[in-house]
This record gives sequence, structure tokens and C-alpha cells, in this order.
Amino acid sequence: MPFPYTRLRRLRNSSKIRDLVQETRLTPNDFMAPLFVVSGQNVRKEISSLPGQFHESVENIVEHAKKIRDLGIPSVLLFGLPDDKDPVGSSAMKDDGVIQRATEQIKKEIPELLLTTDLCFCEYTSHGHCGIVTEDGKLDNDASLKIVVEQTLSHARAGADIIAPSGMLDGCIASMRQGLDENNFEDVTLMAYAAKFASSYYGPFREAVNSAPEFGDRKTYQMNPANRREALREVEEDINEGADIVMVKPALSFLDIIREVKDSFLHPVACYNVSGEYAMVKAAGLKGWIDEEKVMMEMLLSMKRAGSDIIITYFAEDASRSLYS
Ligand code: PBG
Ligand code: ZN
Repeated sequence: MPFPYTRLRRLRNSSKIRDLVQETRLTPNDFMAPLFVVSGQNVRKEISSLPGQFHESVENIVEHAKKIRDLGIPSVLLFGLPDDKDPVGSSAMKDDGVIQRATEQIKKEIPELLLTTDLCFCEYTSHGHCGIVTEDGKLDNDASLKIVVEQTLSHARAGADIIAPSGMLDGCIASMRQGLDENNFEDVTLMAYAAKFASSYYGPFREAVNSAPEFGDRKTYQMNPANRREALREVEEDINEGADIVMVKPALSFLDIIREVKDSFLHPVACYNVSGEYAMVKAAGLKGWIDEEKVMMEMLLSMKRAGSDIIITYFAEDASRSLYS
């Protein structure tokens, strides 16, 4: 006699059969690990808002990057913290700047590690905005694009494999691609922070790099978290301008956007599991309120299941170790 219902539980009866039918699986190859480079020597200081993450000087960043490589993680995302800030962020464009020196050294000692640089001005400007600001306090799009190209070329000369502009300027990818092509850097890959939302989850990062805007906020350039269709326009525009990889950021509150971008375009999709998402799990884990390792893995799995090909995450090393154990 046929049953009036389907026996779905047959596929959950043992760990063997659960493994057999598992649809999504994380590997260390999915991750990109952010790193924070500072000037000086022998610096390795834990970032208070991001437990387990460090400010490191160049030689320590290189050693750290070797450990990341040894875990099978294919790429790092480098952020630079300069000594000096000014209104145009001049220290972002110098060939002997901290991110440029770290890039050179990592590529020299670990050529097989894909080196991604984050490209923005907010870490380097005294006002903390992501470019040049007009007199009425707004981000000046086209003036900022000019210095973006300068910064791009300095990263390319240092040897970056992938450059990831995070400022949400219109026309940014087109300007960068043109600058790179005109200077024989056709092979530099561009990963666009395509749909980046004006999120409150960036708090711990801004504390880590001291980039909170001195006045105003980032809502005239970063997206309204309420907008789904606009996110697709942002991604489409960056693809038309020549982006190789498109990113959605943050990840956890924007899993629907990740899925929609994945289904709407053919480009590889990255997501950024940002500082606030990491800090929440760490804090609740430290309190003993959640099982940190299990929640971490569930969170990362949800990002892959939503369609991410690349997950940028402060958990990259912890999660890789967990996958090997
Ligand atoms: C800079 C930048 C930010 C992040 C990455 N690049 C912060 C911001 O836009 O204020 C956030 C990363 C994180 O929270 O982990 N434009
Ligand atoms: Zn910025």
C-alpha cells in the first residue's frame, strides 16, 4: 500500500548517507583571508575589536601569509594602515607605502599566493571618507577617480595579482581598467566591491583601521540596505566596465542578494563576511552562549549555498583548520 507522504528521512538515516547526498561543501579553497599591514618592525598586535586578527609589520605579514598558504587558502586581501593621513590620502599612492612594500615582499617570498589588495582612501584620508571630499562634505566622484588610478598603478607596480576597489565610486572599474591597460598591466584582475551596502556591521573594522568618517556617513556612496534591484544595477555596471569578479558586502544580512547576483550574471561571485559578523560570533562564543566553531561553519556554509564562489572572511584560518580536523 503506497504511503500518502514521501520518506525524506531515508536520506538522513546515517552519517554515511547524509554525506552522500550533501549538496554544498566548504573547502579552504573557498576562502580569502584579510590581513592588516602596518609600518615599523616586528609589530604583531592583536586588534581589540577583532580578537584573533592582528596589525602586523611587513616581515610578520610575510610569515603569516606563509601559514595561510600552508592551510591551502589561495589568496589574502591586504589592507594598509599608513603613518600619515591628509585630506587627499597621499600616502595611499606611494611606491614605498606600507601596502606597496608588503605586496612586493609577499610576492617575492610567496609567488604562488594570490595577492589581493583592497583599494580605497578611507584608511589614508584625515576625514575618513573614501576619496576627495567637496566643500559641502560630499565625496567628489570624478576628482576621486583620478587618484584611484594613481593608487591602482602603485598596487600594480608592487605586484598585486587582484585589486579590489571598495569605495563605491561610479565609473571606478572603467577608470582602473583603462589605467591598467595603458600601462601594460592587462593581467591584473579586478574584483569589484560591486554591491556594497552602507552597513552598521563595519564598526569593528573602522576601529581597526581608524577610518570612521570624521563628519557625515557613507550613505551618498554606499548602498541603502533596503535595495535589491539597485544592487543588480551596481553589479551590471561593474561587469560592463570590465570587472572580473563581483562582490556582495556584507554577506550574512545579504544572502538574498548573493543568490540573485549568482543567478543573474555569469561572473564569479565573492562575498565579504565582514568584521561585525565575525565579532558577533567571537563575542557570543567567548561568553559561552553559542558553539563558536559550529556557528562559524554554518554561517560560512550559508554563504556558499547562497552562491558565493569566494568567501572573504576573518575566519579563513579557523575554518580551514576545522575542515582538516
Ligand atoms: C573601506 C572598507 C571597509 C571595509 C572594507 N573596506 C569599511 C567601510 O566601508 O567603512 C569593511 C570590512 C569589514 O567590516 O570587515 N572602504
Ligand atoms: Zn573606503
